[in-house]
Amino acid sequence: MNLSIVILAAGQGTRMRSSQPKVLHPIAHQSMLAHVYDCAMQLQPHAVHIIYGHGGDQVQTTLSHLDASWVEQAEQLGTGHAVAQAMPAINDGDTVLVLYGDVPLTKAETLRALVKATDNALGLLTVTLDDPTGYGRIVRDGENKVTSIVEEKDASDEQKTINEVNTGMLAVSASHLKAWLNQLDNNNAQGEYYLTDIIAMAVADRVAVNTVMPADASEVMGVNDRIQLAIMEREYQRQQADRLLREGVSLRDPNRFDVRGEVAVGHDVTIDVNVILEGKVEIGNHVSIGANVVIKDCVIGDNTVIDHMCVLEDAQIGNSVSIGPFARIRPATVLKDKSKVGNFVEIKKATIGEGSKVNHLSYVGDTTMGENVNVGAGTITCNYDGANKHQTIIGDNVFIGSDTQLVAPVTVGDGATIGAGSTITKEVPANELTLSRSKQMTRTGWKRPEKNK
Ligand code: UD1
Ligand code: CA
Repeated sequence: MNLSIVILAAGQGTRMRSSQPKVLHPIAHQSMLAHVYDCAMQLQPHAVHIIYGHGGDQVQTTLSHLDASWVEQAEQLGTGHAVAQAMPAINDGDTVLVLYGDVPLTKAETLRALVKATDNALGLLTVTLDDPTGYGRIVRDGENKVTSIVEEKDASDEQKTINEVNTGMLAVSASHLKAWLNQLDNNNAQGEYYLTDIIAMAVADRVAVNTVMPADASEVMGVNDRIQLAIMEREYQRQQADRLLREGVSLRDPNRFDVRGEVAVGHDVTIDVNVILEGKVEIGNHVSIGANVVIKDCVIGDNTVIDHMCVLEDAQIGNSVSIGPFARIRPATVLKDKSKVGNFVEIKKATIGEGSKVNHLSYVGDTTMGENVNVGAGTITCNYDGANKHQTIIGDNVFIGSDTQLVAPVTVGDGATIGAGSTITKEVPANELTLSRSKQMTRTGWKRPEKNK
């Protein structure tokens, strides 16, 4: 069976009060439409058709990497009219699944069950809500068979008491769908071509309507305003947190934890509050992450400790490394095993060798540092001459005194010692003490000036 998926994304989303089309608003840094697309792709469809309208250029430009066919619905004449726009490109033998670009958290397994329900039948995803206001109601007959869907605005008072509602998602053979869509009219309260009217047509054509329900109502919740967007963001984050908890991660507070990408975590990892993991993050075993830490696109080895208030991006962190508090690790940094980066230290495009320490108030950029180096407080690699960046190469077992400036390009040999307060502009030989420091002097008997009376 060939599956064609149609995603409705033409609505304006007025209630978002945004210059951005609704479906581009993000959940965990990814647009809602991309979430729906990713879910759709898990069903391995033969094609995905995205129906766009308002802000179509913006939607297509932003999501041009998606392997989808873009279909314009110039005027939003209703959900039935929207689906009809995709039908000319869909083969009669296909099964069509209809999804919505503003319903971001549907699970692939739910949709698989829906597609399975289409054997000589129409599969309809419904849900039971305590407050069904606003939704199309599922009308059933004495034998509990679905007979139609009635929209809120067209429903009688009695029909309004029905708690089972239409999620909008359905699956059915393309040949049936084409025939029914051709028969739609807009004689209803909203003057729209309702997709939901095909249910009554299916019943009339003796095509069974099989209903499927999602495991959780959040799977079918749509986003119309920023309050609902925030609710769905929290729901998504809670799901990520729950997954990690099940995998053996301790989260101090699962409600104060955010994943905005893909995360793989080992066992016995402890994560304190307000941690954000972005992009692709891999964390080993027995890692501890402090409060208010942001980690983006990093690999972190076993037994590493990242203390409070650190920001790490695009870095490779080894085993038993210690970072922070208050450290900034910038892109293209490699911290080898057992290295230490302490407070108020910035590292950029640098390799810090095994067992080496940069503990306080330093900037290390464009640097290759060997093993067991001790970098004193306030050391700066002066890597930029105003036009170009230059390299600093530091050997093994080097001791750099506090407040040293290493004016790159410069090389420091193995075992060298640099006296505190030095400005190093030339090569530092191995195993020697090098320092550049003005002579200290004392003027005996000197008096401080006194304030004029
Ligand atoms: C629709 C269903 C209703 C269901 C509800 C679930 C119909 C007639 N009604 O109602 O039974 O309970 O969803 O949320 O289908 N869209 C287009 N083009 C259009 C019209 C809509 O792309 O011409 C898109 C919208 O952007 C939106 C979705 O389809 O994402 C639903 O449309 P909307 O008009 O909001 O339908 P509801 O009134 O919510
Ligand atoms: Ca809606």
